[in-house]
Amino acid sequence: MHKSFDLFFVSSNSHKYIEAKTILDSFGIELGFLKLNLEEIQSHSLNEIAEKKAKDAFSKCKKPIIIEDDGLFIDSLNGFPGPYSSYVFETLGNKGILKLVSSKRNAKFVSHIAYCDKKILKTFVGKLDGTISKSQRGKGWGYDPIFIPKNSEKTFAEINHKNELSHRFKALKKFSNWYLDKLESNDQ
Ligand code: IMP
Repeated sequence: MHKSFDLFFVSSNSHKYIEAKTILDSFGIELGFLKLNLEEIQSHSLNEIAEKKAKDAFSKCKKPIIIEDDGLFIDSLNGFPGPYSSYVFETLGNKGILKLVSSKRNAKFVSHIAYCDKKILKTFVGKLDGTISKSQRGKGWGYDPIFIPKNSEKTFAEINHKNELSHRFKALKKFSNWYLDKLESNDQ
């Protein structure tokens, strides 16, 4: 039987959904998946991109949704690839990034989770500092094999508790607090 959900994650990236689902499960929130390719506007602002994607997703699905827009910001490259992370991953890949980064290796992952329903559009931000590794280590998606979260020696691809500390976890934790309060006040 088809399960009905109150909240959907809209994305073309099933890795993001699996992580978001695991995280929201831990807060007692069930999350369905609508695999859709949403058009992404060109902007320097993740927030602007996320809000546009959320409105588009809601107008397509007509159900309460969340979407995510995120990026890897490398300090010595003035925040590159940032909002262009997806395109840069497809074109340069991890090998290309490793060639660009020299002695200063500080970086951060930033996640913008945007919620949209027929009345509300709201965004939640999570950031995680770290460094870029010298070589690819571990098997993981996207930039996981080259990102070492702070206070760790291992890359995201080598640790098994990524979903307890990631940029995605931090943004979704803020979202969950707000969403659970909203559900509770709707019940009263
Ligand atoms: P967008 O949010 O779809 O524009 O994509 C951002 C890009 O950043 C993704 O396509 C991945 O390449 C990368 N990315 C975002 N979050 C993660 C993560 O948790 N691990 C690895 N790569 C990530």
